[in-house]
Amino acid sequence: MISANELRRKYIDFFKTKGHAEISGKSLIPENDPTVLFTTAGMHPLVPYLLGEPHPAGARLVDYQKCVRTGDIDEVGDPAHLTCFEMLGNWSLGDYFKKESIAYSYEFLTSPAWLALDPKKLSVTVFAGDENAPRDEESAAYWKSVGMPEERIAYLPASDNWWAAGPTGPCGPDTEIFYWVGPGMPPAGSNKGTDSKNWMEIWNNVFMQFNRVDERTLAKLPKQNVDTGMGLERTVTVLQGKTSVYQTEIFGPVIAAIGEAAGYVYGSDSEKDRSVRIVADHIRSATFIIGDPKGVLPSNVGAGYVLRRLIRRAVRHGRKLGIEGTFLPKPAAVVIESFMAAYPELEENRQKILEALAAEEAKFLETLEKGEREYEKMLPNLLKNPQKVMSGRLAFKLYDTYGFPIELTEELAAESGMKVNRAEYDEAFKKHQELSRAGAEQLFKGGLADTGEAATRYHTATHLLQEALTRILGPHVAQKGSNITAERLRFDFVHGAPMSKEELEKVEALVNEQIGRDLPVVMTMMRLEDAKASGARALFGEKYEETVKVYAIGDFSKEVCGGPHVERTGILGKFRIQKEQSSSAGVRRIYAVLE
Ligand code: SER
Repeated sequence: MISANELRRKYIDFFKTKGHAEISGKSLIPENDPTVLFTTAGMHPLVPYLLGEPHPAGARLVDYQKCVRTGDIDEVGDPAHLTCFEMLGNWSLGDYFKKESIAYSYEFLTSPAWLALDPKKLSVTVFAGDENAPRDEESAAYWKSVGMPEERIAYLPASDNWWAAGPTGPCGPDTEIFYWVGPGMPPAGSNKGTDSKNWMEIWNNVFMQFNRVDERTLAKLPKQNVDTGMGLERTVTVLQGKTSVYQTEIFGPVIAAIGEAAGYVYGSDSEKDRSVRIVADHIRSATFIIGDPKGVLPSNVGAGYVLRRLIRRAVRHGRKLGIEGTFLPKPAAVVIESFMAAYPELEENRQKILEALAAEEAKFLETLEKGEREYEKMLPNLLKNPQKVMSGRLAFKLYDTYGFPIELTEELAAESGMKVNRAEYDEAFKKHQELSRAGAEQLFKGGLADTGEAATRYHTATHLLQEALTRILGPHVAQKGSNITAERLRFDFVHGAPMSKEELEKVEALVNEQIGRDLPVVMTMMRLEDAKASGARALFGEKYEETVKVYAIGDFSKEVCGGPHVERTGILGKFRIQKEQSSSAGVRRIYAVLE
């Protein structure tokens, strides 16, 4: 039986035999990408290369990547949806296309030397065609040539077979591969088009030929690329003959730990089982998010807010299981054990993960207790209401004043035979929603790195800023974070005190001087060691490939970076620091614009 650890290895090894270079997966928190909170797909860190930047490791790449998607959080708890998952991916950057991609996939899945899955239990979908691209007869023909029967090929519309990570960015038709998870063997004529329930998607091969520039413009990419993503958890499930990822060793140990805390045996009650799955999924995600090299902590904005919601939802479902007091650190420690071989950062950050979970859990339990006490006080009055409806405004007050989640208010109300006016609550909530939170919700939906012209200028300006800060403030200035939009840059760096007006002016002047010199920006590929030896700046704690791109701005700055950058500094315009403030202890934050 193939384990998750073995599948990761086999996948990498197989594609190495096909001339692919193994690259390391990236952080869960995307650098320099204001449009998403998390890395949502294996291809996400590769967007610049899919758009045409050369990749230092070559044109055939393979990796495994941890991802977080919180868009379908309500589906978490069913057998196949997870908020945190791993994607195995192989890429062709202008090298091979449909024919090899399909042949490789089929060989890896069915060859006795590799996964040895029964070909009779496989089916595929291809793009049916629309105004953007024709019906993909080509892919269908390649599938048939490797042995896929016609009846197992479904032609489906763009909603199924057109892949785009966000509203803009690289995209194209795809072919998806499914495994039969129904009883016995799939009936004759069955495929994803005739039976959407019993075929589980395990792999998606995207033929990226286009760049979605805006709603109306679909531009051809300079090269035809292949982007594939295999769901590690789902594939392990079918390889082990299971019907749910929660039955595999990926979740077994953490489910056991939750069961122990709750005094409950998984499999005895369907409602409770669902809660166990939600707790298991959310603890795993939270562990990965906090334990990331660029890990975040629970907060009220952005990725920290998503993390907070995941932890609080886990606590709530823990209580549904009858767990009292704090319990999260134990199952989180089990998650660390299970995944530290593939993700050593979890072990390195063990202490941080366990402490952050314990602190957030304790804080939330306090909130819950306060809210419950308030609710008890309200209850006698509420019970006088003949319709047995609690007003949405009151429910909102519990949320707003005590942080008491609406789902809990509904649960408590139900215990006294009451309903909450949810529409009224939702309205009050919407009105009150902070912009940042609304923004965060939008960001769950995904998007891609902004590689537009304006953002590119800010990338280069960020390099100038960092170098200027180092020269004016000293060598302790290390980048702690960077976030770029088309309107401004934001840069976090290590520095113990607020900057003086004079320091700010000096930094601004130094950056503007480099812009005035119209320095050339030159990219060179070199081995990471050579890059570091040459004095190029690299992010501490970031995982790099062996060969990296180094961007030099004249004689002023040299930095390891994925790009893209402008060609000369002259076009940047005037650099102005808008704000300098504290970001966290010992870390300052600068907002700056180009005018
Ligand atoms: N981008 C595709 C996906 O995420 C394949 O990697 O499914």
